[in-house]
Amino acid sequence: MTFAHTLPGARTRVSARCLRVDGVSEHGYFIAFEGGDGAGKSTQVRHLVEALEAAGREVVVTRQPGGTSLGAALRDLVLHGEAITPRAEALIFAADKAQHVQEVILPSLARGAVVVTDRYTDSSVAYQGAGRSLGAQEVADLQTWAVGGLAPDLTVLVDVDPATGRARRGGTHDRMESEADGFHAAVREHFLAMAAAAPERYLVVDGGAPADEIAAAVRARLAHEGLL
Ligand code: TYD
Repeated sequence: MTFAHTLPGARTRVSARCLRVDGVSEHGYFIAFEGGDGAGKSTQVRHLVEALEAAGREVVVTRQPGGTSLGAALRDLVLHGEAITPRAEALIFAADKAQHVQEVILPSLARGAVVVTDRYTDSSVAYQGAGRSLGAQEVADLQTWAVGGLAPDLTVLVDVDPATGRARRGGTHDRMESEADGFHAAVREHFLAMAAAAPERYLVVDGGAPADEIAAAVRARLAHEGLL
């Protein structure tokens, strides 16, 4: 078992067998799925949760935005609201994460569960930092503060090119999806750059491959980590 890494600048204290984030010990394992719209993350989350549960793990599956009741209201606001400026958008996503980490993720990790989240901080760095051009570092700093420095043990990046993602979604359903392909291309490039900068913390899979193949690659990586 490995323990979650911390994002740069986090207030943490690492001891031999546990890591503390903002005063909370955590012993579980934290997995984030990331990728562009229409990448097929949700399908992969389902496959992985089934495999982990079959292996006898307690699994908490959740998502951002919207993993808490405050988050559900923020999700509606940020995905379907009107006239939201880029900085306001970044702050709404950050508020969702702050609530989600304290209310759901940290308590689950503290009792030893495997937490699988559909999107986490990298989404904000890619969408708000690169897509909205707010600056990746500034958005990463905001995210680090919002989540108290908690980073996933493993991030699975389901990579998809914007045209494939758009075709799979079958149209636009929210503010982010209705952005032009150039926006989604910038988001994709930034996701790939983050993964390339820290390969030990990422698994990059081709979202265009058959779902079963992707699921097998994810299971193989988690078997390597000792979880399956
Ligand atoms: P959702 O319907 O959950 O999309 P998906 O199924 O692709 O995950 O919508 C979430 C949208 O919000 C998605 O377009 C990505 C975007 N997003 C951000 O821009 N910043 C963030 O921090 C997060 C978590 C999501």
